[in-house]
Amino acid sequence: MEISERLKKLPTQFFSALVKKVNNAVAEGRDIINLGQGNPDQPTPPHIVKALQTAAEDPKTHKYSPFSGLSELKHAASEYYKKQYGVDIDPEKEVAILFGTKTGLVELPMCLLNEGDLMLLPDPGYPDYLSGVVLAGAQFKTFPLLAENRFLPDYNAIPLEDKEAAKLVYLNYPNNPTGATADLKFFEETVTFAKKHRISVVHDFAYGAIGFDGKKPTSLLEAEGAKDIGIEMYTLSKTYNMAGWRVGFAVGNQNIIESINLIQDHLYCSLFPAIQLAAAAALTGDQSCVEELVSLYEKRRNTFINAIRQIGWNAQAPKGSFFAWLPVPKGFTSEEFADYLLEKADVAVAPGNGFGQYGEGYIRVGLLVDESRLLEAVDRIRKLNLF
Ligand SMILES: Cc1ncc(COP(=O)(O)O)c(C=O)c1O
Repeated sequence: MEISERLKKLPTQFFSALVKKVNNAVAEGRDIINLGQGNPDQPTPPHIVKALQTAAEDPKTHKYSPFSGLSELKHAASEYYKKQYGVDIDPEKEVAILFGTKTGLVELPMCLLNEGDLMLLPDPGYPDYLSGVVLAGAQFKTFPLLAENRFLPDYNAIPLEDKEAAKLVYLNYPNNPTGATADLKFFEETVTFAKKHRISVVHDFAYGAIGFDGKKPTSLLEAEGAKDIGIEMYTLSKTYNMAGWRVGFAVGNQNIIESINLIQDHLYCSLFPAIQLAAAAALTGDQSCVEELVSLYEKRRNTFINAIRQIGWNAQAPKGSFFAWLPVPKGFTSEEFADYLLEKADVAVAPGNGFGQYGEGYIRVGLLVDESRLLEAVDRIRKLNLF
């Protein structure tokens, strides 16, 4: 039986090849230090696990959830945005519950775009954005994120015809893969840009909790007028190490939120209610676990960046997220360098070209192993005498 033309057009999962290579190396019995993935290594804080246990014991949670999710979680999301960002969110009209933000990001183009409509995507960027474009039968153009612009888009450099044609743009700060952050001024410019060209904005705030050097990442919704033009997607995967739980939410523009709830009415009956209640407990409970997590990542970042600088590998320290974006040494492409590190140093990293053409010349390192393993990885690389 043949699959549909639409599914045939889905992009090949670039990183599945990498995962295979790493798994093969591990199966050979090699001690691979895997810095290639984005899967948080710490456990979910115990009070959230406990909230799930308690909720799961209540038979009320064994029934279908209301289609658009439990109002407890929507209220918790609203309360969280008020507390963290000073933003007012109507819990019933301006929140949509998501099975993790990957689902939201992939289904959103189907909510807002017609066949052939144009959307704008960052390059480098999170590869799953492309899947949503294909499933919607839409088209996309990319805009480069360049080191000289601190990996922020230069809206003036986007061709006018693309700005006029585009209906939707995706942004993501703190950024995967570059580790860059965006400030309020940038989001204010974004609102102006979006209003002028009538483009809806989706800000993927997956790393919203992870900012370094005492700087808390800014929410798009802190910018005046942001709710007129867009939404933000927030995941619990990174903030509370809940990647396996599959829970997140979208907040912001009422019409866009309604469109997400509409498509989800047809796809799901929302999440297991006990997970929703535990997620609400995470958002409304003590946030010291998040502070501890951010300091853990910051310590790893400092240790790693200091160590690579000591071996002569000059790289910028990421300002947020848990990724470091490192230039590859002369004479290598991103992919050649990633293969070389895996073969010669048993260190796995993600080649930058997997995130788009402007990722060429970089590799992405996930700070998701403990400091001693990060140091061991740098020591193995030092022995290759590349720098
Ligand atoms: C930039 C970015 N957006 C979205 C996601 C999806 O997160 P989740 O589906 O777990 O909410 C990820 C996960 O790695 C990510 O890196």
